[in-house]
Amino acid sequence: MDEAAHSLLAEPVGSIHPLAPLEPDEIATVVAVVRASATGAGALFETIELKEPAKSAFAAWPLRPVPREARANICRPDSPGVWRLVVSLDDMAVLSTVHVPEARPMIQLEKFLAIEAIVRGDPAFIAACARRGITDMASVCIDPWSAGNFGIEGEEGGYLSHTFCWLRLRENENFYAHPIEGLNAVVDIHKGEVIRVDDYGVMPIPMAEVNYEAQFRSDFRPPLKPLDVVQPEGPSFVLEGHAITWDKWSLVVGFNAREAITLHDIRYDGRPVCHRASLVEMVVPYGTPANGHYRKNVFDIGEYGLGKLANSLKLGCDCLGHIAYLDAHLNTMNGEVMTIENAVCIHEEDSGILWKHWDFRTERTEVRRGRRLVISCICTVGNYEYASYWYLKQDGSIEFEMKATGIINTAACLPGRPSKYGAEVSPGVEGHIHQHAFCARLDMAVDGPNNSVVECNTIAEPAGPDNPYGNAFYVQETALRSELAACRRAEPATQRYWKVVNPSRLNHVGRPVSYKLEPSHTIIPFVRPESPSGRRATFMQNHLWVTAHDPEERYPAGEYMNHSDGSGGIADFVKQDRSIENADIVLWHVFGLHHLPRTEDFPVQSCISTGFRLTPNGFFDQNPGIDLKPDVNRASRTAGGHCCGP
Ligand code: CO
Repeated sequence: MDEAAHSLLAEPVGSIHPLAPLEPDEIATVVAVVRASATGAGALFETIELKEPAKSAFAAWPLRPVPREARANICRPDSPGVWRLVVSLDDMAVLSTVHVPEARPMIQLEKFLAIEAIVRGDPAFIAACARRGITDMASVCIDPWSAGNFGIEGEEGGYLSHTFCWLRLRENENFYAHPIEGLNAVVDIHKGEVIRVDDYGVMPIPMAEVNYEAQFRSDFRPPLKPLDVVQPEGPSFVLEGHAITWDKWSLVVGFNAREAITLHDIRYDGRPVCHRASLVEMVVPYGTPANGHYRKNVFDIGEYGLGKLANSLKLGCDCLGHIAYLDAHLNTMNGEVMTIENAVCIHEEDSGILWKHWDFRTERTEVRRGRRLVISCICTVGNYEYASYWYLKQDGSIEFEMKATGIINTAACLPGRPSKYGAEVSPGVEGHIHQHAFCARLDMAVDGPNNSVVECNTIAEPAGPDNPYGNAFYVQETALRSELAACRRAEPATQRYWKVVNPSRLNHVGRPVSYKLEPSHTIIPFVRPESPSGRRATFMQNHLWVTAHDPEERYPAGEYMNHSDGSGGIADFVKQDRSIENADIVLWHVFGLHHLPRTEDFPVQSCISTGFRLTPNGFFDQNPGIDLKPDVNRASRTAGGHCCGP
């Protein structure tokens, strides 16, 4: 036995993977340690999460133990700001405390109904409802939107929610069909009081019911016959704690209150591809200046935290087939452990044929079906659902798909007269134009920690002696050498894409191994970059940003982004203009959805989809799926009932 293997066995290693999220007992320990500290007495807990180990420490694991540490953000109702603590779980001690007085905590799930109750009880709001003929305040539904940063008098330095409201006509009825237009209460969340009611004038409330709940519907179409996913021998992945191995892939699945799913140490056939991948921010700018709607520019990850809003998934409904679930252990504001059971769904899917060829001379066919491993969660932010799907495929590609579903945000209009900034989806109900911009942070490690980025543009050869037939075109590669040079947008006119290359690893045709980022779902921002909302959403202005790795540069709109002024995000990171050549680099990819609501999006929107793909590009010497054995699925039948041949 060699020395390394001996140490592996001899050195007791904790059962928790160093990249696995905090366990419930660890969260309780963090709370106890923080409460016992000088700043922690009487504190409220915004987030408690794993402080992920430094890459060097992780690289030495398991031969050397990795310190287990947590980040805890706390706040107090009587004093502004956020305190950022690092806690050692090994030593049960606070390692550092930083007070950020200008920061505001994320809006917590526990406050959603509290804000509604505060607004329902406010005399000015009750009077505004009375002007609209509403006297039953229990029927008024108030959504706690983030307030942004608009420099409005009386809002300076506050910790606020700018609310929108609807009317619910009876129990469980879809209130989004009945917008109470032009009425917004501004709530001080810490003080628990309404600081202002903005009444832009009375507009008739559309009263027709438009429901999606089954209990209100009797017009069901005849159901289709059962379609079962059967895996008689179980799935092919192995889940140990949070570590997954499947086919040639291995990775660790993390989860936190802000980002929801995080993927770590993603490897194919043992070769590293990506050290860490997650969705780190999103913003939904709406396009109307009318009434209070200009304030709708919500950052669901930075202002609320997607993870804390994750659904407990239901087997056979949310998830089909042979499922492994992971629970998410988070914290409440009071420091209790909050467990979302079945928050992360892991399963494998048939993904159609991976490759095929029929030789027309010999009439011989080779065909292989492919599968993908799917890691997913669904998060509900007010009216919308965001369903995140990471796909690992047998050909070495990684895909991310974001499906948006749920209910569009609604406003009232005069029937037949929607504004030019929206579309009428039901008589008197308008959905405003908006975009959903998402940012993925991809800490790449293509065959090792040091990578470079190359931009690829396709050029049509000019007419002339070099292009006598007018057909010539080729790919021109340009190295992106520094952070400022790597602020890039997609360009359909040149079929632009980017490659993450490892300059020190060559494939069998002498080219550096690489993965390609295909910007297939980009959107052009329409919010003006210098506007109050645009300044806070600078990350939207490029589709690619590349930074030198810094574990504290985590969020493209800033670490503390509720009420932020736009500083402290990706636009500031890249001002350092660090070298990104043959270095430990992070890609930030921005993609999205451009959405003028359709009548078909109401009363509930079918999933619409966006995302991106990372494809091996010279990473393998040939098709990595060439080694799949021929196989015939014996459970398949023709419609007449015949099964496949012997
Ligand atoms: Co939308």
